Amino acid sequence: MQHSTGTESIPFLIFGAPQIEQAEIDEVVACLQSAWLGTGPRVAQFERDFAAYQRLVPSQVAALNSATAALHVSMIAANLEPGSEVITTPLTFCASVNAIIHAGLTPVLADVDPVSQNIDPVAIEAAITPRTRAILPVHFAGRACEMDAIMAIARKHDLRVIEDCAHAIETAYHANKAGTFGDFGCFSFYATKNVVTGEGGMIIGRDEALVARAKVLALHGMSKDAWHRFGDQGYKRYQVVEAGFKYNMMDLQAAIGIHQLARVERNWQRREQVWNRYMEAFADLPIGLPAPPEPDTRHAYHLFTVMVDEARCGISRDAFLNAMNACRIGTGVHYLSVPEHPYYQQRYGWKPEQWPNAMRLGRQTVSLPLSPKLTETQIERIVASVRECLAPV
Ligand SMILES: Cc1ncc(COP(=O)(O)O)c(C=O)c1O
Repeated sequence: MQHSTGTESIPFLIFGAPQIEQAEIDEVVACLQSAWLGTGPRVAQFERDFAAYQRLVPSQVAALNSATAALHVSMIAANLEPGSEVITTPLTFCASVNAIIHAGLTPVLADVDPVSQNIDPVAIEAAITPRTRAILPVHFAGRACEMDAIMAIARKHDLRVIEDCAHAIETAYHANKAGTFGDFGCFSFYATKNVVTGEGGMIIGRDEALVARAKVLALHGMSKDAWHRFGDQGYKRYQVVEAGFKYNMMDLQAAIGIHQLARVERNWQRREQVWNRYMEAFADLPIGLPAPPEPDTRHAYHLFTVMVDEARCGISRDAFLNAMNACRIGTGVHYLSVPEHPYYQQRYGWKPEQWPNAMRLGRQTVSLPLSPKLTETQIERIVASVRECLAPV
């Protein structure tokens, strides 16, 4: 028999709940009424707006249906010979590594810095072999990687750099935006991200010809997209110029993204307030808190991650997650390190202990809700629940 915890009547607080406002709803309705749901004028507008936000021109961006797709086609467009090694972090979502594998390349892991949780440039250097062709840094939680050091390594060894910016729409490092250092930057608009389209992604790139190729690859390898075939200029012939994928963004998704992007700074400011409240509220607790942003960088405040070390906190990470769940608060784990998963262990013989910082962080980490949608009451409920779950019994 299930015992009552007395919390069943409290609504469950969904981790990463997006803030959807009337403008998005109206735009989606207008899109549906326009009868043009696929890739068309709203995607073009979203691309123009995103380019402006990242201080680029529209031909340097391409909207796709996910960041996974963006990473995949970036790596193909980067023209790396099959079997080339790509160095990335073990503390990332599986998509970063899977995209490398699907591009016919070999992932190589370099451990993270225990404080920043980002890939350690010293570990990157140590992982370079004669087959290394690219680096795929992930700006974890929205904190910028050490791009000066990473780009210096890339120049020294003639490597491509593809930045995983899934958490990093607002991130800047020494006055430049994340995603503009390497050959490509890949962004996510998944439902929990800082700008949401439901599913969605964006490639940005310095070289307009490479971005154009990525765009063609993202739509079957066709020389013209549907808007240019069936749109208001009359039917146009297309040619298939390579074997591409079906990775295009729909106008229906861009309808949401246009208005989300218009509020990106307002939402960033709200998340900064929530972040600062957590830092203050948890300062006396035995949990590990995120490192403060480095000088001359801008943190995107995508994830607020705390470390629950059982030896210090008297509760295991997984027991803490369950306790928060019983308090009706959704949490996340970003991430159990990549080599903890059986597929990679079997295919590459990886053991988590080979990357000890990522292993320890992945086993202790808990992400607390950080959505701009959170009310003051909800934030205080989260604060109280964290304290309660850590209190000795
Ligand atoms: C670091 C990282 N890379 C890539 C992705 C993949 O993004 P998408 O879901 O848009 O494919 C995610 C999504 O959670 C992510 O967190």
